[in-house]
Amino acid sequence: MGTLDIALLRKDFPILEREINGHPLVYLDSAATSQKPRVVLDALRDYYEQHNANVHRGIYTIAEEATSLYEGARTAVAQFIGAADRREIVFTKNSTEAINLVARSLGDAPPQSALHIGVGDEILITEMEHHSNIVPWQLLAQRSGATLRAVGLTDDGRLDLDSLDHLLTERTRIVAVVHQSNILGTVNPVADIVRKAHAVGALVLVDGSQSVPHMSVDVQAIAADFYVFTGHKMLGPTGIGCLHARLDLLEEMPPFLGGGEMIADVTIERSTYASVPHKFEAGTPMIAQAPALTAAIDYLTAVGLDAIHAHEQALTAYALQRLADVDGLRIIGPRDAVDRGGAVSFTLSDIHPHDVGQVLDERGICVRVGHHCARPVCLRYGVPATTRASFYLYNTPAEIDVLVDGLEHVKRFFRAA
Ligand code: ALA
Repeated sequence: MGTLDIALLRKDFPILEREINGHPLVYLDSAATSQKPRVVLDALRDYYEQHNANVHRGIYTIAEEATSLYEGARTAVAQFIGAADRREIVFTKNSTEAINLVARSLGDAPPQSALHIGVGDEILITEMEHHSNIVPWQLLAQRSGATLRAVGLTDDGRLDLDSLDHLLTERTRIVAVVHQSNILGTVNPVADIVRKAHAVGALVLVDGSQSVPHMSVDVQAIAADFYVFTGHKMLGPTGIGCLHARLDLLEEMPPFLGGGEMIADVTIERSTYASVPHKFEAGTPMIAQAPALTAAIDYLTAVGLDAIHAHEQALTAYALQRLADVDGLRIIGPRDAVDRGGAVSFTLSDIHPHDVGQVLDERGICVRVGHHCARPVCLRYGVPATTRASFYLYNTPAEIDVLVDGLEHVKRFFRAA
């Protein structure tokens, strides 16, 4: 499948050697978090063993090394997503924090600022969003008096672009949209959405948590004002995420968190702020995670995002075909692999997804069950929860066969019960 030597590549991931209940681990939950190659684990250990010191402060050798590893990660991220300037990258702890940073900061923009959001303004999200791209906007709407609206979904799991055209008006101040849905797998036409939003003067935030790990993303081609993603879903460690934003916006936006590292000068009465991006990085940052994220980026780049994407497309097409043959299984989301990533959600007869997940776990199969932090999607399709299998570069067609056998076993198990 594809051009990757998956058997060889799997040896880079120590956890894939594990057995669960005497079965090989079948990890089908990379949309929740990816597994980590040894180079990423080595980078974490190397940082603590060889370079551990605080950044941007010390004048001694290891402090300078730590700073250079931390800032080197910023350069690596900027290059990875095609950013024009490394100062456009702000490190956060994850995508959620990056979205909260934007929503909170826009909400704090004073009335005289062009960024100010208030009564009569509208914030446009979609029904496909993760809770992290819903709740911060609800909070902003509550604080500012702005109105929150949501683009609907079609029956086959796509964004309803007619609804988008209808809801996008001169009143829209910001559009927040996911690039690739974590529950449906749908890949949205974000560059088109950005173009339409800019035409009415709205800003756009794209949640790239599920896309940056899986496809080649060029933030300049997409041209969103804000693009967020997280390290732990792209082979990196937990605790580090990224906000890419237009420099002029970062300059104009008020700070998110206050504290050390983000200031230029402080008196008891007032403070001035550090230059961008440091203005948005208060406190000791996620230093150890930064070189580990660089290692993840280097690994993904060496394997090749296009090859990874092709492999996942083939896996997804195979999974959709195999799952379609399971009696009683209903896919929630697009049923073909076009404009779709490798997160496949489904229901299985009337068996509760938690029961499905538990019986699969007995065979070492890891899937996520529940509403996947995207409850409006479950409400839209009339299901309380789904079972979700999600794929990454290390998954194989044989693992999809194990999943399908496991689902047949689940059905037999509950028929017999
Ligand atoms: N957002 C992650 C998921 O979809 C946690 O599982």
